Amino acid sequence: MNTPNASQVLIVDDNPVNLQLIQRYVRSLGHETHLAADGEHALEILGRQKIDLMLLDLFMPKMNGHQVLEVMRADGRLHRVPVIIISSYDESEGVVRCIEQGADDYLVKPFKPALFKARLEACLERKQFQDRERRYQEQIEQTNRTLREREAELNASLEKEKELNRLKTRFVAMASHEFRTPLTTILAATDMLDRYSARMDEAQKKTRLERIKDEVRHMVFLLEEVLLIGKVEANKLDFKKERIDLHQLCKDKAREMMDQEGGARTLEIVEYGQHFRVMADQRHLLRIVDNLMSNAIKYSPDYSTIQLTLEQHNGRVNFSVKDQGIGIPETDQKHLFEPFHRAENVGTVPGTGLGLAIIKRIVELHGGSIDLKSRIDRGTMVRVSLQAADTSEHKQLGEEAL
Ligand SMILES: Nc1ncnc2c1ncn2[C@@H]1O[C@H](COP(=O)(O)OP(=O)(O)OP(=O)(O)O)[C@@H](O)[C@H]1O
Ligand SMILES: [Mg+2]
Repeated sequence: MNTPNASQVLIVDDNPVNLQLIQRYVRSLGHETHLAADGEHALEILGRQKIDLMLLDLFMPKMNGHQVLEVMRADGRLHRVPVIIISSYDESEGVVRCIEQGADDYLVKPFKPALFKARLEACLERKQFQDRERRYQEQIEQTNRTLREREAELNASLEKEKELNRLKTRFVAMASHEFRTPLTTILAATDMLDRYSARMDEAQKKTRLERIKDEVRHMVFLLEEVLLIGKVEANKLDFKKERIDLHQLCKDKAREMMDQEGGARTLEIVEYGQHFRVMADQRHLLRIVDNLMSNAIKYSPDYSTIQLTLEQHNGRVNFSVKDQGIGIPETDQKHLFEPFHRAENVGTVPGTGLGLAIIKRIVELHGGSIDLKSRIDRGTMVRVSLQAADTSEHKQLGEEAL
């Protein structure tokens, strides 16, 4: 009979008459029965069938009740199955041991039907209650897990939102400063032209117009930087790798910038190794050198020395730019590669705070790394490390030769 609330009861007894008798009792209470004549068979049934209660005889050949209990308590899946011990009058010592081993109750043969029913139902009820409690517990744990996940997601998006806000604030600060200055210059120059052009000679007019053009060019450059960081952040930067002699490129670019700067600082070039070839996008490499050199120039005093070091070492080509300038406060150092971040000691030196953020992404796109060392009022050193092109080429040639 398959009653919806029927529990699955396993009866274990080596005496067939007892087995039949207990089975009749259990069935009369509306439960389903499974029979085992010894401990081993009982464990085999427990392994494949969900059992709500076991009635276990104490003395059986092969494997007795104590041994069955021992196996069950050691097994994570079986130790929750309630057990009622079936004993005779003179087995009280054994029963006590069973209770110590985790059995839930005991019944003494011959059974009194009312007592049998009461103990069996109480045990099953306890089991149902414990099962329900465990399910609730699992649900609570699951809900807690989901809550914790949601909380982590929320925190992450909050962090992102905060970062965006910080970015916006820094952008506004940069834009209001960096755009206002050229606009004021342009306004002043156009105003002069407007009011006094009749009194100006051609050279004076040209000077004003050149100033306007310079400032407009500067503003276009700023806008391009802002657009570029947008592209970089969206991972939409395109680049075309080719074999480049970093040695030549760095030296040419650094010298050109030092010449433009007017020669108030000394450029010192140091080299270790011979081959400085890398696979990279030339425009991007120029931008890296440009920013590092322009920072070294901008943030260091006249008549100081800027050192450009190139080294080829362990399959890497490293180049670094070191200056003797104002240095960077430690609190700012960890934020320097974030867009629009400028250190607190920049004073009136112009800048967008985008250069390092852009070049860090570029270097990473090339599979390289960038690091910075700085001490306030002593100077700054920024080093870029890229994989040498020759090592991969040699490796390929070597592999072909094999
Ligand atoms: N060599 C350096 N010496 C001192 N401070 C530096 C140096 N290089 C970078 N910094 C600090 O790091 C900040 C970020 O540098 P980054 O090159 O990104 O921006 P920027 O020079 O301000 O502007 P941009 O390069 O976009 O014109 C600078 O504003 C400055 O505070
Ligand atoms: Mg810069």
